[in-house]
Amino acid sequence: MTILITGGAGFIGSHFARRMVSQGSRVVVLDKLTYAGNLENLKDITEDSKTSQLFKFYKGDICNQELVEHILSVEGIDTIVNFAAETHVDRSIQSASTFIDTDMKGVFVLLEASRRYKIKKFIQISTDEVYGTAHRGAFKETDALNPSNPYSASKAGGDRLAYAYWATYKLPIIITRASNNYGPYQYPEKFVPLFITNALEDKKLPLYGDGKQSRDWIHVEDHCASIDFLMTHGKDGEVYNIGGGNERYNIDTACIILDELKKPKSLIEHVKDREGHDRRYALDCAKLMSLGWEPKIKFENGLKDTIEWYRSNQSWWKRIKSGEFAEYYDKQYKHRFSCAE
Ligand code: NAD
Ligand code: TYD
Repeated sequence: MTILITGGAGFIGSHFARRMVSQGSRVVVLDKLTYAGNLENLKDITEDSKTSQLFKFYKGDICNQELVEHILSVEGIDTIVNFAAETHVDRSIQSASTFIDTDMKGVFVLLEASRRYKIKKFIQISTDEVYGTAHRGAFKETDALNPSNPYSASKAGGDRLAYAYWATYKLPIIITRASNNYGPYQYPEKFVPLFITNALEDKKLPLYGDGKQSRDWIHVEDHCASIDFLMTHGKDGEVYNIGGGNERYNIDTACIILDELKKPKSLIEHVKDREGHDRRYALDCAKLMSLGWEPKIKFENGLKDTIEWYRSNQSWWKRIKSGEFAEYYDKQYKHRFSCAE
């Protein structure tokens, strides 16, 4: 099998690439290397002579039709897993334009090329955020989509476009909607790595609003295992929710991180809330579980290991935090903290 993994230099895509080459699949990565893409995330593949033979990297944009068609014409791709996306809600609130380009137009370019080159399987990595806030209960795949920020709205566009290519052209697509991921190599703009790395630096943890928003956490390895499972067990044209079964209030997750690092709770600062903040995400995963898959990693264990990874890999995140990130952090948080750090 030769898989094209778009966005394979990002957080989840790099874990998925590692998993697939270690199982003997040939992997081609197409990644634009935006601020979130990082070749260091793929180093253990490229520096190992066994896995590097199975691996090829293209730097480029999924919106570039010519490049996408070139890759499909020369690399013998049978499966595409599309992770490439602009992914951070707060950045989408600051400026939505790249989200519309990549998360909608980029998906269109990939789908069109897949149709032309008769791709055998196209997995569109969508998100639980397309459902919007779960006021009660948990969302099923058949529930209405109600995205409420530019990130989730553009992901909903890509999600439905993929479905349209199944309904209209019978392109063999599968759509996955996973809950919040955590684990090694996550860019430190996201809640878990931001709070871990700030705590390691004895900096304030900017908790939005009352901190009583809740998220369902899934370890990135569990998420990748579920996609691998769905590549063979999923049914074309179907949507699958992928949850971790670990719903936690943000404030409780922040406290676990501080306890683990033996840092004081006074590092938490309640700051101005995110605009349009979804209060709660929750997924009903009965459809996936009925096929025989369920997550294995308990949140408290996975979080402990993740904290240890960030403690032991400080050069990875310190280099990121001193670059483009510093400017973003200033813009996003300076006015939120009562007194700037
Ligand atoms: P990430 O931001 O860490 O990585 C995204 C990658 O896509 C980067 O390597 C970036 O360079 C690349 N990219 C961006 N625009 C591109 C373009 N136009 N062409 C080619 N490459 C481009 O994101 P992530 O957290 O790994 O998320 C991966 C996917 O999973 C996304 O589609 C996201 O919506 C989805 N998802 C993420 C989560 C989560 O909690 N992180 C949960 C559910 C679904
Ligand atoms: P995030 O990692 O941005 O994921 P998403 O919003 O896509 O679920 O945020 C997770 C939760 O943490 C969300 O409720 C917002 C909250 N949060 C904070 O309280 N402070 C922060 O600095 C960030 C980045 C997030």
